[in-house]
Amino acid sequence: MSKRYPGAEAFAVEELDFEVPAGEICVLVGPSGCGKTTALRMVNRTVEMTSGDISIGGNSIREGDPAQLRREIGYVIQQIGLFPHRTIAENIGTVPTLLNWEKDRVRARSAELLELIGLDPEYGDRYPSQLSGGQQQRVGVARALAADPPVMLMDEPFGAIDPINRSRLQNEFLRLQAELRKTVLFVTHDVDEAIKMGDRVAVLKKGGRLAQFASPTGLLMEPADDFVEDFVGADRALKRLALMRVRDVDLWTAPLAQAGDPCEPVRTAVAAAEVPHALLVDNESRPLGWLSRRDLAGESVPENADSTADPLIDADSVLRDGLATLLQSGSLYAPVVDPRGRLTGVLSVEIVSDFLSSREASESELSAAERPHD
Ligand SMILES: Nc1ncnc2c1ncn2[C@@H]1O[C@H](COP(=O)(O)OP(=O)(O)OP(=O)(O)O)[C@@H](O)[C@H]1O
Ligand SMILES: [Mg+2]
Repeated sequence: MSKRYPGAEAFAVEELDFEVPAGEICVLVGPSGCGKTTALRMVNRTVEMTSGDISIGGNSIREGDPAQLRREIGYVIQQIGLFPHRTIAENIGTVPTLLNWEKDRVRARSAELLELIGLDPEYGDRYPSQLSGGQQQRVGVARALAADPPVMLMDEPFGAIDPINRSRLQNEFLRLQAELRKTVLFVTHDVDEAIKMGDRVAVLKKGGRLAQFASPTGLLMEPADDFVEDFVGADRALKRLALMRVRDVDLWTAPLAQAGDPCEPVRTAVAAAEVPHALLVDNESRPLGWLSRRDLAGESVPENADSTADPLIDADSVLRDGLATLLQSGSLYAPVVDPRGRLTGVLSVEIVSDFLSSREASESELSAAERPHD
């Protein structure tokens, strides 16, 4: 598809061509003015393309009525765009009302969506100005989801939100998406957001030309050219840490001991181990603390260790968060636990630094690894 605005000399979007598998999030990312919004708006025909075609499920969007098309595609924009004089419930019910749903059905759907986005039902009677920015943004998402459209367009949906709330909204949306499996075109100018949110990422250059279309891993591992490499940034090695979960790397093993065990074999194990301390665990393998040399000086392992096992790292977290936990606590290594609190291994700063420096090894691991937001 291409777009040249009336009177403009250059194309805003030029021969942009890619395919988005149903049920995936495709992120369009690129510098300001490169044509992201234009590309997105051509999909629901709020901007008419100059040439080319777009098909959804095999049908050209040129056929049929644009107003009808817009009702079938959810649309979330940065400025939220809630109607200020309508209640939250009425805002969420906008498209269902246009589709002539029964009043009761519209109300029930609004209530259901409020719950889905984690807002109390009483918010339905409030007006947009009575909500925080993050809450309004959630309502914007709920409104786009109201008629359950298979396709969603999201134009910098979290762009106006502070970083902490943005990260929360991103996680919430990924959780929703794991259930709803919408086909989503998501625009951002933030590479980190693109890597986090996208199953695939389309990097655009000025003039709406496609610089690269790849998975987040592909983008970080093999940027197509200097433009993409610059855009992804010098810290792309660090960004790769967000693609990998702690459970997917080779963790260290620590010698284990339970209260009452004889000390002698534990002392021998410590002398030979990767981790220079033994870990006291309960009979369900939950870490209780690190045993010091003094703890192990006697006949049998004591009930309490010299130091606690904190911090514990969640095996499901991404490597970047695991490293952050280590750095914040000032530890060189820490126990990794599964959702039931049982030890799965030990993560060390050295493991992370080896991961960063061994490009080849990490490439094969990464291609085998699942996306972090499954
Ligand atoms: N209605 C319009 N009429 C004429 N030119 C336009 C119009 N809308 C956008 N443009 C131009 O088309 C180009 C692409 O704009 P677009 O809004 O698609 O970029 P963008 O990638 O979304 O930028 P941003 O990141 O700042 O939102 C820009 O050069 C812009 O000036
Ligand atoms: Mg834009």
